[in-house]
Amino acid sequence: MIVLGIETSCDETAASVVDGSGVRSDEIWSQSLHSVYGGVVPELASRAHAQQIVPVVRAALAKAGVTRPDAIAVTAGPGLMGAVLVGLSFAKGASIGWGVPWIAVNHLEGHLLSGLMEADPPQFPFLSLVVSGGHTTLYRVDGLGQYVVISETVDDAIGEAYDKVARLLGLGYPGGPAVDQLAGMGSATAIALPRPRLARVVDGARQPVDDMSFSGLKTAVRTVVERGAAPIPADVAAAFQRAVVEVIVDRVTAASQAFGIDTVLVGGGVAANSGIRAGLLNTGLRVVLPPKARCTDNASMIANVGRLHLLAGAQPCGLVQTAKARWQPGAG
Ligand code: KG4
Ligand code: ZN
Repeated sequence: MIVLGIETSCDETAASVVDGSGVRSDEIWSQSLHSVYGGVVPELASRAHAQQIVPVVRAALAKAGVTRPDAIAVTAGPGLMGAVLVGLSFAKGASIGWGVPWIAVNHLEGHLLSGLMEADPPQFPFLSLVVSGGHTTLYRVDGLGQYVVISETVDDAIGEAYDKVARLLGLGYPGGPAVDQLAGMGSATAIALPRPRLARVVDGARQPVDDMSFSGLKTAVRTVVERGAAPIPADVAAAFQRAVVEVIVDRVTAASQAFGIDTVLVGGGVAANSGIRAGLLNTGLRVVLPPKARCTDNASMIANVGRLHLLAGAQPCGLVQTAKARWQPGAG
């Protein structure tokens, strides 16, 4: 089954063609226009998607050598409503024009299962960590569509915390990759930062289900930068990254022990982070890390999930199905 995936939930206009042999094309147009505003401006994102959607889809089809897919999978949420609606409306129109079915895909489910596109994909159950600009959640994945939230942030997502730390250090937006790069040049022990909400130990067992929190850590960085004695930016970045990595590794290893699951998939923009990648690889668990381009928003992860659901017998969507700004993966 050849599936065209479409993703427009935030600031990337993306289209991809995926079939049983893998990813045949993967086109992404990143909207750099938001960088001067220090964050994504929703209305500008929608306008840019409306301009880019046709050329991006055309390029994805041409590179895959496909004129008409067997089905269309499109992000229907969560995300910016206006942005999601551009891709969704396009998908509905193309579905009617081509006479092929379409299916609504949850963006987070795309990140959650992106590791399944790697060679030698793991069997269920496994853990999946989604770390992006808006989400930081560790799931237990019992099967397709069966996602149990084990631990999630009660405040800032990690990507958000990275972007705020980048702003404090004057590194621009999006700042995650810049903080990551700078962290590699600093000392992680030169500055002391808190380790928020490490798993509690009850009766000798670490509790995996506690929430995570990153806003206190971000505030601690702000205090160091604004009130400290001119700290070296690379040291601040390194100390911040070390703290984040320790919390993530703690959560994942506690969950692995508690549920007896030793495979973890990682997805979302922050999964491109070198510290998180190295920290998880050091745990001895089987860690499935998609290449960096497939960690940040892309359409192959959407095509992949739509295809898996269609192959599992999911009903295609009708015209009344619309965008959802909030949507838990697996919640129908
Ligand atoms: O998944 P994504 O592309 O979009 C959302 O769905 O949010 O994630 C974007 C986030 C941004 O906050 C960006 O700063 C962060 O991922 N990010 C990183 C890295 N690369 C991207 N954060 C830390 N280290 C990186 N290398
Ligand atoms: Zn995302």
